[in-house]
Amino acid sequence: MIKPDDNINLMGRFNLKGRRALVTGSARGIGRAIAVALAEFGARVIVHGVKPSQNLSGALDAVRKHSPESFAVCADLREPDAPKSILDAISRECGLPDILVANASLQYRTKWTDITLEEAREQMQVNFHSTMALIQGCYPLMKKQRWGRVVTIGSVQEFRPHPDMAVYAASKSAQENLVRNLARQVAAEGICINNISPGVFATDRNEEVLANPEYAKKVTDCIPSHEYATPADAAGAALLLCSDAGRYITGSTIVIDGGLRLPG
Ligand SMILES: NC(=O)c1ccc[n+]([C@@H]2O[C@H](COP(=O)([O-])OP(=O)(O)OC[C@H]3O[C@@H](n4cnc5c(N)ncnc54)[C@H](OP(=O)(O)O)[C@@H]3O)[C@@H](O)[C@H]2O)c1
Repeated sequence: MIKPDDNINLMGRFNLKGRRALVTGSARGIGRAIAVALAEFGARVIVHGVKPSQNLSGALDAVRKHSPESFAVCADLREPDAPKSILDAISRECGLPDILVANASLQYRTKWTDITLEEAREQMQVNFHSTMALIQGCYPLMKKQRWGRVVTIGSVQEFRPHPDMAVYAASKSAQENLVRNLARQVAAEGICINNISPGVFATDRNEEVLANPEYAKKVTDCIPSHEYATPADAAGAALLLCSDAGRYITGSTIVIDGGLRLPG
């Protein structure tokens, strides 16, 4: 009979002390909630925004309450050199991150018949190519120390693409495909790579559309739980995937959508 191990020490497995976590797009919304959660569990967190802003300073203050050595970096991920400049800045300060949460994204609501090549390319650059480049940049350190965590933030649109966001949805599916491919290749090196797919979250990007009561009702009617998520609803899953508690989870997607993707 296999001897039971009752010494699980689950609190210890969630502890991120000594880890360095980059969370892109963490000035606001889901990224900010994940950044604060990782800091609360001990990681030194690098918050990121396009440029210096009150939101970014607020996010940095919030993470520093838990993890005083945290700091901020800025770069526009539409620029192909941005991932390298972000990682160079972090390396100079404290060494490469061993936790990467690729959260920043660009979303244009434009019918596929009208979207320009430039708009399509920008979304692919931010949502796919920059994620790939950040993973490439963090990988040598993760491999060397035989420990690393990558979490990409996808979307429920991997399962239910919105007709007005075809390229955005495709960019998230490409990212998720990359996650499964890389996860298999690096699993033996102590590196876990996973994806989180949010449904409808009350964040800045949805503020305008959800302010329309008719549209908002249409949306909540589609969600089996009949409510939107708040950014904090993504924090627990991210913490699991970034910690030793999730060490045997790789190449997976956790969908946080109140049941939105389920067939009716
Ligand atoms: N909200 C939802 O309902 C929902 C649903 C499905 C998936 N998601 C995904 O969840 C993630 C977070 O969404 P959210 O709603 O929390 O986002 P949000 O509130 O719109 O915040 C976006 C963050 O990304 C940064 N960002 C935007 N464009 C950027 C660029 N070109 N370069 C670098 N950073 C950029 C922003 O930086 P600044 O603050 O400096 O502008 C901001 O910190 C995204 O990947 C999104 O696709 C969200």
